[in-house]
Amino acid sequence: MQITIAKPFGKEHVAAMTLRQDVLGTIIDVKKERKVVTFIALDDGRVVGTASLQLYPCKVARIRQVAVSPDCRGKRIGQKMIQAIEDHCRNLNYKYVILTSRVQAVPFYQKMDYTTHFFTFADKNENRSVNLIWMKKVLQPLCEPMCEPIMEEQQYPEFD
Ligand SMILES: CC(C)(COP(=O)(O)OP(=O)(O)OC[C@H]1O[C@@H](n2cnc3c(N)ncnc32)[C@H](O)[C@@H]1OP(=O)(O)O)[C@@H](O)C(=O)NCCC(=O)NCCS
Repeated sequence: MQITIAKPFGKEHVAAMTLRQDVLGTIIDVKKERKVVTFIALDDGRVVGTASLQLYPCKVARIRQVAVSPDCRGKRIGQKMIQAIEDHCRNLNYKYVILTSRVQAVPFYQKMDYTTHFFTFADKNENRSVNLIWMKKVLQPLCEPMCEPIMEEQQYPEFD
């Protein structure tokens, strides 16, 4: 089994979109598809898993549309795809990864040190309603201050 990046709109990318549609019920949106990098898990030439990565400003990366073929689950394919995406993000010096998880998949991400945040919400499409929850992971701790201190120590007002 090999994790790789699919050539945009090539044969494997199309197979990944089909798998995602079957597993998650999401509608393929070509416009959105152009904004993401599609990671795939290949087993003997067959696409058995897919996960998309979207790069946001401020070094925030978002994982989207994670799906593993039902007959291939429990073989660490999902975990390896997430790790491959995180390595890719580290190489690009991205520090934060965010995602929205289906409620039932939250433990899968928690095992990889993602924490739940904000709120649960429903993604309502024409024929489905899915409960999602925001999750986050810090890839590298920030070791440098975000900005210079505004005032020198002696300039702070004194308090009684
Ligand atoms: C969630 C999903 C991507 C996991 O992929 P997978 O390849 O089966 O998972 P892995 O084998 O890599 O699992 C890694 C670990 O997470 C655990 N895990 C996986 N899915 C889990 C779940 N739904 N609930 C609890 N634990 C889960 C595994 O037991 C394993 O734990 P271990 O390290 O203690 O052995 C896959 O089940 C799937 O496609 N589900 C349907 C679509 C979906 O929910 N996608 C997520 C959308 S946000």
